[in-house]
Amino acid sequence: MSKKSENISGWKKFMKSMTKAHELGTEEDIMLDHDYDGIKELDNVLPPWWLYGFYITIIICVFYYIAVLGFGWWNQYDELTAELETAKIEIQAYKDANPELFDDSNIVALTDAESIAKGKELFATKTCTACHLADLGGSIGPNLTDNKWILGGGVKNIFNTLTNGGRPGKGMIAWESTISRQERIELASYIISMQGSTPAAPKAPEGDITWPE
Ligand code: HEC
Repeated sequence: MSKKSENISGWKKFMKSMTKAHELGTEEDIMLDHDYDGIKELDNVLPPWWLYGFYITIIICVFYYIAVLGFGWWNQYDELTAELETAKIEIQAYKDANPELFDDSNIVALTDAESIAKGKELFATKTCTACHLADLGGSIGPNLTDNKWILGGGVKNIFNTLTNGGRPGKGMIAWESTISRQERIELASYIISMQGSTPAAPKAPEGDITWPE
């Protein structure tokens, strides 16, 4: 017998011991006497590979029960709490390293052409033009090119208006959840860049706040 065929017969033996499959052709030996309209049932044993897997889960279950519920060596709640603690520290570290991303009192208007172009694009795509018109002359919303403001001019006030919206019921919603912080800065910067421009049909100035003076 060659080495190869020995291996195969070893493998076959193993498979047989793991499945305990009944020999083909001798099914009569394990045939039950049920007979449902010609459908018959064989009394096969549970395959050992499956049973072993089942026993292993039972053993793991005992250890798990003792370790987690008995001694409380570890549990998911503690893991979560620990992870949240770490995350808190990481968030704080990130905030400390990037104060300009979180402190709205530091916002400055962007003046580079790329940011202004982005602001202009956002003004069109975020539906601002529907109420303020493409040249910012105003229709439902006020004219944004004059120096009269209802809610306040300057980058911080405009950013604040975009973030929190206008007065209730006026139609200017809060955009904080739909427009990112950076995009709100770009929009505010674009609006500021349009200060003093001449819209085709400017709406009369609204608001008591003058900016720039
Ligand atoms: C549904 C109509 C509508 C849309 C859309 C809209 N606005 Fe307004 N906007 C208004 C109204 C109305 C006001 C006045 C709010 C008030 O009186 O409190 C306003 C106010 C403002 C102000 C403050 C003006 C001031 O005088 O203080 C700014 C800035 C502004 N909008 C920018 C934007 C930008 C940027 C967008 C797009 C992201 C936008 N708006 C989308 C209706 C709209």
